Amino acid sequence: SWNMSSFVEDKVKEIKEIVGEKRVICGLSGGVDSSVAAVLVHKAVGKQLTCIFVDHGLLRQGEAEEVYKTFREKFDMNLVMVDARERFLSKLKGVTDPERKRKIIGEEFIRVFEEEAGELSDAEFLVQGTIYPDVVESGTSTSATIKSHHNVGGLPEDLKFRLIEPLRELFKDEVREVGRKLNIPPEIVNRQPFPGPGLGIRVLGEVTDEKLEILRQADYILRDEVKKAGLENDIWQYFVVLPDIKSVGVMGDERTYAYTAVIRAVESVDGMTSEWYRMPYELLANISRRIVNEVKGINRVVYDVTSKPPATIEWE
Ligand code: XMP
Repeated sequence: SWNMSSFVEDKVKEIKEIVGEKRVICGLSGGVDSSVAAVLVHKAVGKQLTCIFVDHGLLRQGEAEEVYKTFREKFDMNLVMVDARERFLSKLKGVTDPERKRKIIGEEFIRVFEEEAGELSDAEFLVQGTIYPDVVESGTSTSATIKSHHNVGGLPEDLKFRLIEPLRELFKDEVREVGRKLNIPPEIVNRQPFPGPGLGIRVLGEVTDEKLEILRQADYILRDEVKKAGLENDIWQYFVVLPDIKSVGVMGDERTYAYTAVIRAVESVDGMTSEWYRMPYELLANISRRIVNEVKGINRVVYDVTSKPPATIEWE
């Protein structure tokens, strides 16, 4: 295993030498890999680095604020927050097919990133959070396949940047260790996987502002309860899915007709296969009670007890 202190020192030195006085940009998603890569490069070149965070409106509750707090306030980094929420929502209007949704989100993401990167046209380098399993998976050498930081498409090859990929030799747990060495907060270092298309593929069917807001609130309650139960680092992934289903319920004297929330929690090693998580009944009861009481628009909660295969972890 690597000695992570010397890894940080060596990389910082190496990045300094390569970059010199030039400017560097980095797409920041708030995920583990891009966060660690960004902080490492920042340690090397400081304000020569500008990070770009695209808020596509498909993020979980509090996520954009957390990125701002961590990277702008705590690390004092140059950070451009791009509010592209309207843009993505209008592109997704009327679209229900999962693959089309993914494609639209991926393409729009690249477009927004390119526009912002174009504003920083004197930058010569681009930081990528590529880690060793990505390298193996794509089976390529340095720059042939460039994954966008959201892993949703890949940046176009005519982006005229030289790549900096400081985490290329590391496995996920080593990346986390480096992150801890760099004082990145545990909420980011231990973050569960989150798909690039975000809540866009957890709101099933058409994505609307209303459904996103409902999902965000329910998902927040799930995360809050899992955290209170002390299980946040024991479950590979846990999230809420909002299918396009309404059912009848009753609240007080009133009949309700509202959405069903699906709780999905899985155990996995690498995301390739997974087993549904045997969540304690009491925890499930708390989550269910809070969601139907606190989230206007949901009157029913169900638990997904399917493994992968044959189901996938995400629903779309
Ligand atoms: P599935 O649903 O295919 O998911 O069983 C396996 C793992 O991959 C994540 N996932 C994605 N990650 N971009 C990503 O970066 C994506 O488009 C994407 N789709 C799924 C999923 O959350 C799970 O961890």
